[in-house]
Amino acid sequence: MLIGYFRNCPGCEVPAAAQRRALAEAGCDQVVEEWSGLEHGDEQPELHGLLARLLPGDVVMVPHLDSLGRSLPKLVQYVQRLTEAGIGLRSLAEAFDAPARLRAVETVAVAGQGGSQGADSHRRGAGGRPPKLSPDEQSDIVESVLSGRHTAAAMAKHYQVSPATISRLLAAQLADPAAPAPSRPAIGDGVAADRIVGVLPLSALEERLAIVGTSGSGKTYAAKGLIERVMAGGGRVCVVDPLGVWWGLARGADGAPPPFPVAVFGGTHADVLLSPGMGAALGRLVGTQPMACVVDVSGFGSAAALRGFMTAFTEALYAVNTEPLHLVLDEADLWAPQRTQPDGLDLLGRVEEIVRRGRVRGFVPWLITQRPAVLHKDVLSQADILVSMKLTSSQDRAAIGRWIEGQADRTEGRRILAALPQLRRGEGWVWAPGDGVLARVAFPRILTLDSSQTPRREARPGAAGLLATVDAPALGRALAGLAADGSEEQTEGLNDPPV
Ligand SMILES: Nc1ncnc2c1ncn2[C@@H]1O[C@H](COP(=O)(O)OP(=O)(O)OP(=O)(O)O)[C@@H](O)[C@H]1O
Ligand SMILES: [Mg+2]
Repeated sequence: MLIGYFRNCPGCEVPAAAQRRALAEAGCDQVVEEWSGLEHGDEQPELHGLLARLLPGDVVMVPHLDSLGRSLPKLVQYVQRLTEAGIGLRSLAEAFDAPARLRAVETVAVAGQGGSQGADSHRRGAGGRPPKLSPDEQSDIVESVLSGRHTAAAMAKHYQVSPATISRLLAAQLADPAAPAPSRPAIGDGVAADRIVGVLPLSALEERLAIVGTSGSGKTYAAKGLIERVMAGGGRVCVVDPLGVWWGLARGADGAPPPFPVAVFGGTHADVLLSPGMGAALGRLVGTQPMACVVDVSGFGSAAALRGFMTAFTEALYAVNTEPLHLVLDEADLWAPQRTQPDGLDLLGRVEEIVRRGRVRGFVPWLITQRPAVLHKDVLSQADILVSMKLTSSQDRAAIGRWIEGQADRTEGRRILAALPQLRRGEGWVWAPGDGVLARVAFPRILTLDSSQTPRREARPGAAGLLATVDAPALGRALAGLAADGSEEQTEGLNDPPV
């Protein structure tokens, strides 16, 4: 049985669909795909499963020897395990072909063979145990096989040694870090430093982005990491934050000094206080100043107050802004819902204007939503890049389904959509049609303070626990006091031990 195996890694130069197709076209009865490059390590559970169930005589085919393990020791370990188990190994990129033990060596296809028959015959003539390979011959074998000039089978024939000897030689060579790197294609080496989350070119930061995913899946966190990259490049940024979770952008993580100068307008960590009537003024300020800022509207209370502020803010901002500005709308469906109330039509129009026609005025809109099905489709459809974190609802997955068209074949698209509910916090699929990217990635740690953490009891030592007893009269007095004047002092004493 011929089994294809490849690793679907973030940054792989060759897309998963192409690797799968190449293996299928090479005659694999079955293709097994491994996820790798995520923060959970590089354990290759699928490969372990394969090793457990394959039988001597089976052959594993990989697009590239790197598919077997990112580190050289791992690669060597797997090559040896396959060889010892009598399982053959073929690589498409290196024309590597170590046949399974049960296969007759003579039946192995020898592609690209260039060795002379004379060299074969001088060894064959000796009979018995084949002579040891000289250092020059060993180098010739390694260089020939890894460069793809000759197959392992061809070199085994040429030097009259067993294919297992060739694999051992190759494995030993690859395990030696002092050995000069053979010239070979770089499939799997694609997580480059000049790429964002390993897969996107830096220019992707200048594109319109939508980040979708369920609550707590890591949307805000991922957007913060990307916005840090924008600020590191000196970009102007304005984040509209209806939940009060972005103020940490103005602080350093773990008590470190703030890495970026970010002004916080409004909210409980305000540098500058904000009221619902200041929308137009703030729009003019943000549109004309070279600054990064968070506009925290979480304290505005009513939906009408929020909409009134945002309508005036976006109108003034659109009117005066002329320089590049990243405008991040967290919970974007609040401002551009698919089902808009009459008093929200004006705001929807403003947001749509910025997203559709704002490019010439410098706008780079980034939209974040838990519910892509609820965000207005004319707004969502304008995004150049879509990032989907964990997504469970079928309507929301359907809303992003069309993004996959043109990026993957139908079967793969369906498979990706079906797998979205299983994504872990901080993991997402990135679709960037313009850059030809469709990849699963893990978003890295941010430099600024993580101010959107889910509160945990054990993380708040000293925080009040449950009331020791239910003191109904005291609760009644506290409620009456709060109802009368909104004073929180009335709650004092509720946690006092009973006398
Ligand atoms: N890539 C990541 N690495 C480490 N921690 C993460 C990552 N993504 C998310 N987290 C953790 O999960 C928390 C919640 O993530 P985040 O605030 O981004 O969720 P969200 O998708 O925006 O949710 P909501 O829709 O409720 O706003 C973060 O504050 C952070 O502590
Ligand atoms: Mg969020």
